Amino acid sequence: MPEAWNPEQYLRFKTEREQPFWDLLALVRKKPGMRVCDLGCGTGALTAELHRELSARETIGVDSSAAMLSKAPQTPGLRFIEARIEDFDLGQFDLVFSNAALHWIPDHGILLERLTAALAPGGQLAFQIPSNDAHPSHETAFEVASEHHFKRHLSGPVHRAKVAEPSQYAGWLYHFGYGEQQVRLQVYLHLLPSREDVIEWVKGALLTPYREQLPEPVWKEFLERYRALLLSRLPDERPFPYPYPRILAWGMLPG
Ligand SMILES: C[S@@+](CC[C@H](N)C(=O)[O-])C[C@H]1O[C@@H](n2cnc3c(N)ncnc32)[C@H](O)[C@@H]1O
Repeated sequence: MPEAWNPEQYLRFKTEREQPFWDLLALVRKKPGMRVCDLGCGTGALTAELHRELSARETIGVDSSAAMLSKAPQTPGLRFIEARIEDFDLGQFDLVFSNAALHWIPDHGILLERLTAALAPGGQLAFQIPSNDAHPSHETAFEVASEHHFKRHLSGPVHRAKVAEPSQYAGWLYHFGYGEQQVRLQVYLHLLPSREDVIEWVKGALLTPYREQLPEPVWKEFLERYRALLLSRLPDERPFPYPYPRILAWGMLPG
């Protein structure tokens, strides 16, 4: 099975992908000596920023991709663990943070309850998840993956985990005991050189489960089919405006 996460492909749009991280971090209340966990930390470059910005006592980055973690920086107090978020025994933290990763995991109500159990009194949960499934870039991927020729190679759900409405996250945070919270939907408008670059964007993240599961020749057919369908659905504008809605959520438990 190929390693689908490719740091070079993911980082082709580094600046655009990093901005939500900084917006999420701005929601976090800095406290002395924090113990921090960064779920789905990717290359760990932003985990190091998180660690530094919070002057944390200890920060653990968790990711299931060996290729992404191979780029992880070495800094005192910073540690990386290769594991699936679903299987990782969380321990206790002052902050559980996750930028653009939890949307790969199903059942967000159950997931958030589990993450809450990993927080110390006064602990904070902060996460950002893309909410762009209605854009042709995503709808076309789900549609092509549902075609028999591709679907027969794909185990499990063809769609990614369902991202809930922002108000649902606010409800979950309230019911799991967060005395303070902020949840918002923010649309990031990315100006890509052309509509072709939307394909390069989704190759860095959304398409990774298909890349992982499809045999190489079928993956190439998938990409060709996706490209033809998607380009017929997008106007030929240069630069190409690619709106990207994301949910940013933060909550703090009583101390
Ligand atoms: C879009 S990248 C975000 C990386 C990083 N948080 C950042 O902001 O640069 C998503 C990351 O989530 C990881 N990931 C996806 N599903 C995961 C899972 N179930 N458990 C652990 N990591 C996962 C991928 O390997 C990938 O590195």
